Amino acid sequence: MAKTKTTFYCGNCGAQSLKWIGKCPSCGEWNTYVEEVIQREDGNHKWSRQSSGSISKPKLISEIKYEEQNRKDTNNEEFNRVLGGGLVPGSLILVGGEPGIGKSTLMLQIALNIKNFKVLYVSGEESELQIKMRAERVGVKNAECYILNETTTQNIFQQIEELLPDLVVIDSIQTLSTNIIESTAGSISQIKECAAEMQKFSKLTGTPVILIGHITKDGNLAGPKLLEHMVDTVLQFEGDRNYGYRILRSVKNRFGSTSELGIYEMQSTGLREVSNPSEILLSQRDDTLSGTAIAATIEGMRPMLIETQALVSSAAYGTPQRSATGFDIRRLGMLLAVLEKRHGFRLGIKDVFLNIAGGIRVDDPAIDLAVICSVLSSNEDIAISPKDCFAAEVGLSGEIRPVNRIDQRIAEADKLGFDRIFISKYNLKGLEKTKYNIEIIAVANVEDVFSNLFA
Ligand code: TYD
Ligand code: MG
Repeated sequence: MAKTKTTFYCGNCGAQSLKWIGKCPSCGEWNTYVEEVIQREDGNHKWSRQSSGSISKPKLISEIKYEEQNRKDTNNEEFNRVLGGGLVPGSLILVGGEPGIGKSTLMLQIALNIKNFKVLYVSGEESELQIKMRAERVGVKNAECYILNETTTQNIFQQIEELLPDLVVIDSIQTLSTNIIESTAGSISQIKECAAEMQKFSKLTGTPVILIGHITKDGNLAGPKLLEHMVDTVLQFEGDRNYGYRILRSVKNRFGSTSELGIYEMQSTGLREVSNPSEILLSQRDDTLSGTAIAATIEGMRPMLIETQALVSSAAYGTPQRSATGFDIRRLGMLLAVLEKRHGFRLGIKDVFLNIAGGIRVDDPAIDLAVICSVLSSNEDIAISPKDCFAAEVGLSGEIRPVNRIDQRIAEADKLGFDRIFISKYNLKGLEKTKYNIEIIAVANVEDVFSNLFA
């Protein structure tokens, strides 16, 4: 029986060594050695990776049988949406996020709510009792959810063979280890190898596998990043821990769009699906306060109205501060520079703080105009009517630029009872204004907006 052989390579220069060394004698770098398997032990589990006997042959594309993949409804609308319509058989899904954000809660909830599906939830992090306590909190609907405390892949596969589950959840990939490598669980070579075994298992049996992976604040831990190319779908669970809202984003998806987004709220009974985000993202408002403006944004396929809040005040110290929560700080700097240079607002000597309500990060450029308006509103100390909203990008010369899917944004604002929406005049083409009750105000530059709002 051939023994598994491993060797250590320097990640920097590729030098090889039989044992781990801290400093590479070849290039002088520290901590670059990683273990790699060069020859595998025979007699492992069949889903452990080993050279298989059969050789695959090239096939004509027309000969490959294809049936529309029937996706499994997870009974969780937001999760389905992010996956692109449900679980695809044989897919390998990685759910990443910082510790404590709610990955285990979300996955356990899915395991407990999915209908007519045998789920195996493998946990290397929490005991059966802890999981049971959490399950009691979030409620159990699926009678066929099995919990397994195990971290060795060979043992897990043995249980899988007996149980034959329809879905396997691994919490987390960092706690798994395979017998064929010696290094400790959580090391790069273990993570890679275990994920490869899971990949082989899911592809051969058609069972979807969900891997949970931690990433640290600085995204430093190589684990999940390293796996991104091996898995079919990468989902990121994020949010500000000080707020209750959590966003599930798809970063990579072989079976759907990556612009989709699921929104949850963490409550004492687990994660609640937020199916109408606009209503919660507009904070309770007092129309006499300056510094807030509402943006009509679209994330994925879903329009949402989000409140932007700005505070502009004279700089208390020599260097003015800029701070943004939920918005790119460099983009804020750019917008402030446009206001200063093109329109003469003296913001260079002011502190500017910007906040997107709900602690949500928005990538949609259509939020620009609302950001500018909330900054100007705070600067002038004049409140914007809570019945106004904005959807446009702002260019470097202060021009108001068109954004995509404008009719969807207008329709959403209309539905939520807004009186006016400010859009770029270049978005007017082909727009049926009469369809909506909301008044549509087309603007070409920042001055137009300013005179409309504050003059
Ligand atoms: P958890 O799923 O353990 O996070 P992760 O697996 O990403 O590390 O969730 C951690 C937080 O969620 C924890 O701080 C408590 C909170 N929580 C609730 O607020 N309500 C609940 O019903 C549950 C189960 C957890
Ligand atoms: Mg966890």
